[in-house]
Amino acid sequence: MKIKKVKAIEILDSRGKPTIRTFVFLDNNVFASSSVPSGASTGSHEAVELRDNDKNRYHGAGVLKAVDNVNNIIAQKLINQNLDENSFEKIDKLMIELDGTKNKSQLGANAILSVSQALIKVFAISTKKPLWQVLNEVYFSDVTPDFPRLMVNVVNGGKHAGWNFDIQEFMISPTSNTSTQSVRIASEIFQQLGKNLKKQGLSTLVGDEGGYSPELTSNEQVFEEIIKAASDLNYQNEKDYHLAIDAAASEFYQDGSYIFKKENKKLNNDELIDYYKALKEKYHIFSFEDPFAENDWQGFQKFLQVLSLSRTEPTRTVPLIVGDDLYTTNPEYIEKGIKEKATNAVLIKPNQIGTIYETAKAINLAQKNNWKIIISHRSGETEDPFIADLAYGCASDFIKTGSMSRSERLAKYNRLIEIENHL
Ligand code: PGA
Ligand code: ZN
Repeated sequence: MKIKKVKAIEILDSRGKPTIRTFVFLDNNVFASSSVPSGASTGSHEAVELRDNDKNRYHGAGVLKAVDNVNNIIAQKLINQNLDENSFEKIDKLMIELDGTKNKSQLGANAILSVSQALIKVFAISTKKPLWQVLNEVYFSDVTPDFPRLMVNVVNGGKHAGWNFDIQEFMISPTSNTSTQSVRIASEIFQQLGKNLKKQGLSTLVGDEGGYSPELTSNEQVFEEIIKAASDLNYQNEKDYHLAIDAAASEFYQDGSYIFKKENKKLNNDELIDYYKALKEKYHIFSFEDPFAENDWQGFQKFLQVLSLSRTEPTRTVPLIVGDDLYTTNPEYIEKGIKEKATNAVLIKPNQIGTIYETAKAINLAQKNNWKIIISHRSGETEDPFIADLAYGCASDFIKTGSMSRSERLAKYNRLIEIENHL
């Protein structure tokens, strides 16, 4: 089969901001499209999301340049190319070369990724295979596809919810390894939390990722409310679910200090370690994402050491220390993290690096080094469930894709339910 036509358009993401969707048409009349998400608390080493900066359109956030780069520059190179299992790496490398910059600032990581994803999708449809299977066969043939555990962001803070909390994400992770059961547990707890907040006269409006953002006074109070909602339904912390956070600490790091505005605290990284340790002991936090700023490698290293040493019972595992902004899905930084023992897990966001080929490289590297993998959405999402197939296809340990509300989040959970049902 051959590529007949490649066409990108400007669409809107879940925040109503422009993003890109690319259609790939084959000569057998099969076509598919894929769209890319957009972050708010972005790492500074992320590949470039090309925006027009034309103040007369969408407040400067238009992506017509990226669309143009697909329709004119990339399309020209792809039309009439053969598409088979070996094409994806080749074409992704070709686009990297065509861009010619280290951070994809010429063509835009948004432009390149939309093509990279659409190509695999159209091939999957054409060969009548599910997307996860093609991803597995092409990039992850060493692992058997498997369901990720869910990380469900039930309370939103930081940049995603007007800085109501300093911590950006308060998550629950059901311990069940079936998606249908996990979705049910997470949804029930989310609904119960809503009921409890309402009873106290607190807001149940949701943030960018679909979690509540009530006027509570501290991070600790959020954990109390989540645990209370779960126990109202007889779900037990550590047995039925775990608690996790994404601190997104780069966002509250200023001149060498971590500033918790809500709690009126200014901490250095040792004091922040003590703060997290106390949270862990009290609430059994099981995963800490970006607990330190992206340049504070020493903070990560010290924290991992402290947690490894403080493991008292043999059955209690060391919590996950997850690098997101720290690594930006870039194999080079992940390699550094492995060498320097900075974390034991990595967040994977395809649009931080800009191709599925490089995303797979990051995943393979982390898996080979026994790190845990969390495939992740962005705070600005679309209805494209690509990452659900990616998570299952590479047997990632977790998927982080928002709360139990907002269809752009649920699209991914619903896709996992489909996969579970062999659909
Ligand atoms: P972002 O948030 O998409 O705004 O970067 C998600 C995250 O930090 O994990
Ligand atoms: Zn994060």
